[in-house]
Amino acid sequence: MNARAKRIAASGEGARVISLSVGEPDYPPPPQVAELTTAFIGEKKGRLVYTAGHGIPELRRTIAAKVRERTGVVYDPEKEIIVTVGGKHGLAGAVLALVNPGDRVLIPSPYWLSYPPMAVFAGGEPVIIDCLDTGFKLTVDKLRAAAHPRNVALFINSPSNPTGAVYTREELVALGEEAARQDLWIISDEIYDRLLYDGAEFTSIPALPGMRERTLLANGVSKTYSMTGWRIGYVCGPEPVLKAMKTLQSHMTSNPCAAAQQAALAALSLSEDELMAHLGPHLESLRRRRALALEHLGRLPGLGVSVPAGAFYIVVDVRPFLGTPLGASGEPVKDDEELAFRLLDDEHVAVAALTPFGAPGFLRLSFAVPDADLVEGIARLARFLRLA
Ligand SMILES: Cc1ncc(COP(=O)(O)O)c(C=O)c1O
Repeated sequence: MNARAKRIAASGEGARVISLSVGEPDYPPPPQVAELTTAFIGEKKGRLVYTAGHGIPELRRTIAAKVRERTGVVYDPEKEIIVTVGGKHGLAGAVLALVNPGDRVLIPSPYWLSYPPMAVFAGGEPVIIDCLDTGFKLTVDKLRAAAHPRNVALFINSPSNPTGAVYTREELVALGEEAARQDLWIISDEIYDRLLYDGAEFTSIPALPGMRERTLLANGVSKTYSMTGWRIGYVCGPEPVLKAMKTLQSHMTSNPCAAAQQAALAALSLSEDELMAHLGPHLESLRRRRALALEHLGRLPGLGVSVPAGAFYIVVDVRPFLGTPLGASGEPVKDDEELAFRLLDDEHVAVAALTPFGAPGFLRLSFAVPDADLVEGIARLARFLRLA
């Protein structure tokens, strides 16, 4: 979708393309990131060398301190933490380490679109648990119904991309107990842990009773610190799995980029006060734009709009519009993907269709965009849906 949007923008035809499909924050990283990384490269005169495969010790120690401060969970920086090439690489490594051919990987839907391919690459079977009717969240009943001797791992992503759903502590305790009954590993994708609204509270799964030993905590600097391009993530978990992940990583990438590790070190070394002094105004701005988007979307009759408690996306239900006359031509569309393409072609608005996220008939709109784009993008969507 992004490539098609860029092509249309480059062709100079018609109206400006408004992208509501982006998956990254629009605020700057903390200034220390550029300052300290530039100084590091200068000191080394550009001669960066291999690092330890699982990341430089200072960064692993800093990750351990940050995770401990934030969640209370203690990890050994040498044996239980790996620095990865972005959060995605950490998740993929976790799946490769845990899953053997034929193993089942449980994925509540809607899900982040990379989870099923990760299971497939490991020779496993992605098992999708539909959570459209339970507020986009897995319930104990649904997890129980999916019980199977070959179940090995369960993905939990809270706050969620694409839905913004945030699990409460009680919900996670109950899911954790059922996961323990089924002897499952939990892969806890905590990449949006700081982006919360309306008093929603983040709960880190390994901090729950009995969960540390069956959870892999995956996070990174991409979202909180707005450092998507630096490609630094990390995974914390029990030594045997981390050992397998380290072996894999050493033969696949050697180590994450040395300069990027310094950048992540600069970011993660910020105290909570320093981080919040930087992040606070940006979180406030996201809160304001979320409210703005919800206000404008709320005016569109027939469009189901879910209110996200975290991340920076809003999911809308376009199922009532499938098969109806749409856009200037009045031609109907059959599904969300065709709708997203037509919306881009007709109105030059890019959104993410959610069939690849396990939610056919839904779209995802990012509100990490300028106010004017948000309002104009929603107005164009309304015109396309023939609601304006
Ligand atoms: C749910 C989720 N997990 C993990 C990631 C991976 O982040 P990274 O850019 O650090 O690979 C993303 C990025 O979009 C995401 O949305």
